[in-house]
Amino acid sequence: MQKITIKKILKKKNKTPITCLSLYSKTMAEIADKYCDIILVGDSLGMVLLGMKTTKDVSLETMIIHGKTVKKNAKKSLVVVDMPYKTYTNKLIAYSNAKKVIKLTKCDAVKLEGGKKVVKIIKYLVKKGIPVMGHIGLLPQFSTKFKLKGKNFNQKKSIFEDAKAVSNAGVFAIVVECVVESLAKKITENVSVPTIGIGASKYCDGQILVADDMLGLTNFVPRFVKKYSNLKREADKCMKNYTKDVRSRRFPSFKNIYS
Ligand code: KIV
Repeated sequence: MQKITIKKILKKKNKTPITCLSLYSKTMAEIADKYCDIILVGDSLGMVLLGMKTTKDVSLETMIIHGKTVKKNAKKSLVVVDMPYKTYTNKLIAYSNAKKVIKLTKCDAVKLEGGKKVVKIIKYLVKKGIPVMGHIGLLPQFSTKFKLKGKNFNQKKSIFEDAKAVSNAGVFAIVVECVVESLAKKITENVSVPTIGIGASKYCDGQILVADDMLGLTNFVPRFVKKYSNLKREADKCMKNYTKDVRSRRFPSFKNIYS
C-alpha cells in the first residue's frame, strides 16, 4: 500500500481520473481509503452530520476533530481538510489556522473556497509550506442558494479567471463545483493542475461526491449525485426491526446473553 502524495496527484492530470470522496468518520475513512486517491474532510459535515442549514457555522475545532479521526484511519489516501468560513479572512489568520489544522490533524493539505479574492492567501500558505487545494464555481460558504454557475458570458469569464488565478497561486488541485460543462472543459484544458469536479461534467481530471449522498444516507439528491445505494432506507428497516424485536422480547435471544 503506497501513500498517495501530491506529486502523484499532479502526475495524474490528463492521464488517470482522480477519485475523491468527502467524508467525516472512522468507518467511512477506512472504506474510502481502499479506493480513493483523495479524501476530503469537507465542511459539508455541518449540514450532513450536524443538521445545520449552511456550512457557515462550522468551527475550526469541529474540522480538527473530524480531520484527526479521518487521517488516523486513512493510511493511503491524501487527506485534505476544509478551512471553514471566516477562518481565512487574511493571510496571517489563514496561516495561523491552517498551521493549527495541519499540526493537530496531521492531514496532508487544506482546502479553501474562492478565486481571485483568495490569491494572496493561497500564495502565502504555499510559501509557508502548507499545501492548498482550491475551490471555485459554486462556493457553499459564500452563497445562500444552490445554483449552477457559468451560464452567462460574464460569469464564465470570471470563473475562468478564478481558475487561472488559484492555479498560478500554487494550489495542487482545484475543486470545480456546479459549473456548465463547456466551462469545466475550458478550465481543465487551461490550468496546469488537476481539476476535481462536483456537478462539473466528465471533463474534469477527477470527481468528488459527498459519501453520504452517494450512499443514499441523505435526502439531498441533486442531478449530479449518482446514488449507489439507499442506506437510509436500510437503516430505517434495521431500526424498525430492532424495536419490534425488543417490544416482542425476541431480542436479546440466547445468542446475545451471558449465562
Ligand atoms: O464540503 C465539502 O464536502 C466539499 C465538497 C463537496 C467538494 O467542499
